[in-house]
Amino acid sequence: MTEISGTVAEIHARLARELLPETLGHVKRTAELARQLAVDHGVDPDRAERGALLHDVADRYSDVELLGFAEQFNIPVSLTEARIPKLLHGAVGAEILRREWGVTDDELLDAVRDHITGGTTMGRLAKVIFVADKLEPARDRHYGGLDPIRELAMRDLDAAMLKLYAWRMSDLVGASRPIDERLVHARNALIERTRTSWG
Ligand SMILES: [Fe+2]
Ligand SMILES: [Fe+2]
Repeated sequence: MTEISGTVAEIHARLARELLPETLGHVKRTAELARQLAVDHGVDPDRAERGALLHDVADRYSDVELLGFAEQFNIPVSLTEARIPKLLHGAVGAEILRREWGVTDDELLDAVRDHITGGTTMGRLAKVIFVADKLEPARDRHYGGLDPIRELAMRDLDAAMLKLYAWRMSDLVGASRPIDERLVHARNALIERTRTSWG
């Protein structure tokens, strides 16, 4: 594992040039929560902060640009991603961080890749970033009532993730939108690992 070169201040400065202002605010709030969750769950808080700051580095690209990057980087595109290319900003962002930012921390890159739908092999760093992204304070504007899940996330990351997966799925079903295959696989994998019986 190699740390990202540059201080957090340098990362902030580069992000301030590259991200939209609202995304910059979101990643800073996500980084603050990720630091707290990292401390709760034995993850290096500096690494969680950096990963959270960087997780939406490809958020600003259009659908056409994201599909173009996916082709350029040989990123497989699912049927759902082909219809909703925004879902690719995690995988594209991870590849941009590797190629253009010189990030070589594979776990951090995996966390960036999996931050939208989750993944089947998430480590604690990826879980911290996934959960922080969904629970940063401004999310209350859209969802409201997130405090119980924030408290749960401090004690039990997996339980918080299962709640967030369930919310996401019910939102998608309610809006008659497709559920990305990765989300289904990620949730199944987490249930498989955390449940000991199906009684
Ligand atoms: Fe994102
Ligand atoms: Fe985000």
